[in-house]
Amino acid sequence: MHDVLPSQSPAWQRLEAIIRDVFAGSAYSEIRMPLVEPTELFQRSIGEVTDIVEKEMYTFTDRSGVSLSLRPEGTASCMRALVEHGLLDGRQLRLWYMGPMFRHERPQKGRYRQFHQAGCETYGMPGPDIEAELIAMTARLWRRLGLDGLRLEINSLGDAASRATYRAELVSYFERHADQLDEDSRRRLTTNPLRILDTKNPAMKELVAGAPRLLDNLGDEARAHFEGLQQRLGWLGITATVNPRLVRGLDYYCHSVFEWVSDDLGAQGTVCAGGRYDGLSEHLGAKPMPAVGFAMGIERLLALLESRQGVLAENPPHAYVVMAGDAAEEAGLRLVERLRDAEPDLRLMANCGGGGFKAQMKRADRSGAPLALILGEDEVAAGTVILKPLRGGEGQQAISRDTLQPQQILQASGDRHG
Ligand code: HAM
Repeated sequence: MHDVLPSQSPAWQRLEAIIRDVFAGSAYSEIRMPLVEPTELFQRSIGEVTDIVEKEMYTFTDRSGVSLSLRPEGTASCMRALVEHGLLDGRQLRLWYMGPMFRHERPQKGRYRQFHQAGCETYGMPGPDIEAELIAMTARLWRRLGLDGLRLEINSLGDAASRATYRAELVSYFERHADQLDEDSRRRLTTNPLRILDTKNPAMKELVAGAPRLLDNLGDEARAHFEGLQQRLGWLGITATVNPRLVRGLDYYCHSVFEWVSDDLGAQGTVCAGGRYDGLSEHLGAKPMPAVGFAMGIERLLALLESRQGVLAENPPHAYVVMAGDAAEEAGLRLVERLRDAEPDLRLMANCGGGGFKAQMKRADRSGAPLALILGEDEVAAGTVILKPLRGGEGQQAISRDTLQPQQILQASGDRHG
């Protein structure tokens, strides 16, 4: 679990702002869910026999004896919230959320125990059109961020009927090769055979490669659905590779699933993943409801951005306000408040902690500001303030305090928008 330090937060803020902007551009609304939910919610929705539920949740018993877990993802919480508030009534919903998730995984580059996701969940739309909308939205986000080289992989897990037929076929295949199964897979053979396809064990690679493919077992309707998605991606010029081995690590999926993968992040290359989960609402005791969504890992996107663009600079103040003496402090504070009111985008750091002129100029320098606003006894008496460039530039100038405008500070500080 990591701290986001002041030197890192500008990159986070910029990324988060662009993500919000892109979601808003497709008219998605924000939902905020609690960080903690009843453990049972995740067991029932993500699935008992998944890595997340079997070994990765932060679970504890609260003072009332209820088992709670820190949320490992947002999809289950989002649906719980909608059911609880009676919002899952058949109307179409397009929602987004952003925030921390928790999984007790073995930490490595790109895999953390507290990580952050930005996700979208949509409800009430059964066709491939909404799947294409979601994928197009993520593709637009990559363009806005200047990220190229992300690969889109898609697959269909079919409908319940296709999956049942396939499951039987898969079990019989693995049973024929039971001697090659590792312990985990042997257990999954009875509980969740599809997950064997997701094995990380290199010794089973060949066995898995030879397994029957769900994609070859799709019924007509499921096939048409998946072709509908591919057709729409084609209309939009979005290249997708069909990966028949893409099964996803959570149990609630059906029909289309997808992942955006980068080759520049090592083993943890999936930056965004999602799919359809029509069965989840019924599973949680609500009415059937078509649903599809995705979530992206903020840390992984930041790592990619950093590798492409270098670390983003901190946002230093436009100006540091030096106020030497009581009278200067009074005049300075009045001035600073007036300027901040007048221009919300202006960043002024006002001296605190006293100190003489020299000490304050030192702080001004350390703040990274390109400009100092200086008030001493002479300026107070003359009704002026001095604008002094700190990093080269033209010489200092005295300006009337009452008429000083934020634009003059922005310009003198070299802010492009000034
Ligand atoms: P997920 O594949 O478990 O799906 O996670 C989505 C993304 O979150 C991953 O592709 C990755 O970028 C990021 N992520 C996951 N675990 C970690 C970790 N330990 N450290 C850093 N980043 C991580 C879900 O969570 C589904 N709820 C997605 C979804 C939404 N499906 C439908 N709606």
